[in-house]
Amino acid sequence: MSVIEKAAKRLEQLRRAGVEPDAFPAQNASRGGTLNAVEAPLVRVNPRSQEAVASISSPGNAKEPTVAPVSFELNLLKLATDGFVTPDIPRSRLADEFRIIKRPLIANASGKSATPIKNGNLIMVTSAMPGEGKTFSAVNLAMSIAMELDQTVLLVDADVARPSIPHTLGLPTGKGLLDALQSKSFDLDKACIRTNIEKLTILTSGTPHARAAELLASDAMDRLLDDIMARHPDRIVIFDSPPLLVTTEARELATHMGQIVFVVQAESTLQADVKKALATIESCPIKMIVLNQARTTAQGGYGYGYGY
Ligand SMILES: Nc1ncnc2c1ncn2[C@@H]1O[C@H](COP(=O)(O)OP(=O)(O)O)[C@@H](O)[C@H]1O
Ligand SMILES: [Mg+2]
Repeated sequence: MSVIEKAAKRLEQLRRAGVEPDAFPAQNASRGGTLNAVEAPLVRVNPRSQEAVASISSPGNAKEPTVAPVSFELNLLKLATDGFVTPDIPRSRLADEFRIIKRPLIANASGKSATPIKNGNLIMVTSAMPGEGKTFSAVNLAMSIAMELDQTVLLVDADVARPSIPHTLGLPTGKGLLDALQSKSFDLDKACIRTNIEKLTILTSGTPHARAAELLASDAMDRLLDDIMARHPDRIVIFDSPPLLVTTEARELATHMGQIVFVVQAESTLQADVKKALATIESCPIKMIVLNQARTTAQGGYGYGYGY
């Protein structure tokens, strides 16, 4: 087969895989969803075709594809419309509430609190039950911290059974946390997705795994967290996690964390459930309770309360 025939065949394979070959680097992501493959600049990639990026990046290694480092343009307008804090709208009631929530967390993470906190920059957002606002809070917290002048953030989707960061932020799914836990040679930097918010990087939960809870509890998790902290010691890592009373994953995860943000849906979560869930994370040195959707009688609206 001639070189041209081979090239034509390869192009056809790429098209079938959802990759549109392009004559120019895909540098200008269009608003709301183009995935840029930094190490594969000659292709424009359909957001859902991360696997295809992998096969282009390492054509000689089909079994263990290396996912190219990617960047993703978050649709900040949509996120703001959906009620999230974004850098474009730095002043809003929600932004002010998260400003209050993040201050002590940042102080603990950066060692500026009275007592030094081990792993203070590892912060897990959890709750007793599903639907209490963990993902909402984790995303807003990550956004809010990323708006600091000198603070970088990694948002990790650790709700491995029901990951919702991709849907919430419009991200494609791909390799992530669970893949990193399964392979020592996995290059974490290549799975971390950079965004158009310069200081915000995201790690998705990765390929679903039947024994996800065991992976989160394994030595591999210790190694991964050490690796994350060694690469960027000053970075704050926010873990969007599963609920504490439904699965065991969140409890496993909690054992590694320096700080836990415990979300309680106001006027909905049973006091007994809150107590039971808090008992499961007793070992974590710092717990902040965030009352989500608390009715503030003065304004008649909804908002956050917080406390320790
Ligand atoms: N304070 C809030 N204001 C507005 N919407 C909220 C708030 N908290 C949660 N939600 C919405 O409620 C739903 C459930 O929240 P989510 O964060 O997904 O819960 P969890 O992650 O705990 O299961 C989502 O649609 C989310 O956007
Ligand atoms: Mg969630």
